[in-house]
Amino acid sequence: MPSILITGGTVVTASEQFPADVYLRDGLIAQIGTDLHIEADIEVPADGQYVMPGGIDVHTHLGEEVFNTITADDWESGTTAAAFGGTTTVVDFARQEREGMSPLQAIERRRGQAEPGAVIDYGFHLMATNLSSPGYIEELAALPAAGVTSFKLLMAYPGTMMVDDLTIYQAMQVAADTGALVTLHAENGHVIQSLTERFGDAGTVEEHMHMHAHPHLVEGEAVHRGIALAEMAGAGVYIVHLSSHTALTEVEAAKARGQAVWAETCPQYLFAAYEDYEDAGFEAAKYICSPPIRERANQDHLWRGLETGALSVFATDHCTFRMHDDLPDLPPQKPMGRGDFRRIPNGVPGIENRLHLLYDGGVVAGRFDMCRFVDLVSTMPAKLFGLYPRKGGIGVGADADIVVWDPNAVHTIEAATHHMRVDYNLYEGLEVRGRPTTVISRGEIIVSGDEFHGSPGRGQYLERTTPWVMSHAEAGSA
Ligand code: URP
Ligand code: ZN
Ligand code: ZN
Repeated sequence: MPSILITGGTVVTASEQFPADVYLRDGLIAQIGTDLHIEADIEVPADGQYVMPGGIDVHTHLGEEVFNTITADDWESGTTAAAFGGTTTVVDFARQEREGMSPLQAIERRRGQAEPGAVIDYGFHLMATNLSSPGYIEELAALPAAGVTSFKLLMAYPGTMMVDDLTIYQAMQVAADTGALVTLHAENGHVIQSLTERFGDAGTVEEHMHMHAHPHLVEGEAVHRGIALAEMAGAGVYIVHLSSHTALTEVEAAKARGQAVWAETCPQYLFAAYEDYEDAGFEAAKYICSPPIRERANQDHLWRGLETGALSVFATDHCTFRMHDDLPDLPPQKPMGRGDFRRIPNGVPGIENRLHLLYDGGVVAGRFDMCRFVDLVSTMPAKLFGLYPRKGGIGVGADADIVVWDPNAVHTIEAATHHMRVDYNLYEGLEVRGRPTTVISRGEIIVSGDEFHGSPGRGQYLERTTPWVMSHAEAGSA
């Protein structure tokens, strides 16, 4: 593998930024210093640019069979798009089928699905749907030692992915014993079901009504309950895709009590709003995801959460479904629910634009600095999900996953030029400042400007350690 010397840039980590050259050899960061005079095979000039750790997106759904279809982005297209956006690692989900599949079998199946296509490194959260069959709890307890150190449980989608409180509590007990982290999709699935039935009876199931079937209290209640279950089990808990002021308040209160609680939010909750799709007819289907994209008034609170640390991670929940139903050889996806939100697959794209959006909306807008940006998109995800310090930082001996980031490049986000295999972009027409110019994964340049140099199958499966934050940070302070 050719060695690389990145020269003249400003290295940024979650805690500091300083001018330095960075020398990469054998897939690792070998040296960091000013004016390194090393003969490298490749020189990457980074004058006027930042040199930051590769992005880590810990919430993606690639090539997943869900909502009676399979996501439009598979492992190859999704990880290629991720790379173009400066993400060099994803942590996706291995869903356990409710019947006849153990936790370990779910991981093995998912590894087989990801391996041929993945362009960047990847791991899985075990998405547990059944822990009551004999031996399953014991298998769950063995997963952290085998490198699967986070479990996902859903409090929504009754009949498919939702689990009851006992299952959540049991998974949290296992997490407390093994050092793993439980992550929760926190919405009260029964209340959503009841509201959905009521709208069905009334004949008010137009696309935008999805949000009314998922009111903020449904999220707030589930976040509260999840945090309470974690406290009773003596475990930490991580709330995925937090969308509302109400839910944020629950996380802030738990942190103030000193509980080990973390939460992520996603671009759709900061850069889109209910007002954008309330009167949009079928176009509203582009925005349908759960929890829903809410009224704009929530956005200021979520930005504040990112600034203060109440929100620790910026992930995407990238889960793509096509809008068109006239594409040759491709089954309709969002149009399955034309005029009826109950049949619209839930999910939105974002994997390629995560860093673009947060840099522009966070750093350029003056809400936080470059170190906080790096923390949100790379370092905290690595620390929480057992990848740090191998990934998520710029340190000698770490994987050479690096993004050279041009803070001044301006481009317009549009489906016509994005690399995601989905026929729309939620942020169509938005002009953003800042983008990667070079993306390096384990010492290989995989993106250079608009050129792709990666290849499917080069991504490696990551066995993860237990969360760094549990042993290195004060509970609730990270
Ligand atoms: O609408 C969403 N979020 N789709 C993906 C599945 C999930 O709930 O995370
Ligand atoms: Zn979810
Ligand atoms: Zn998700």
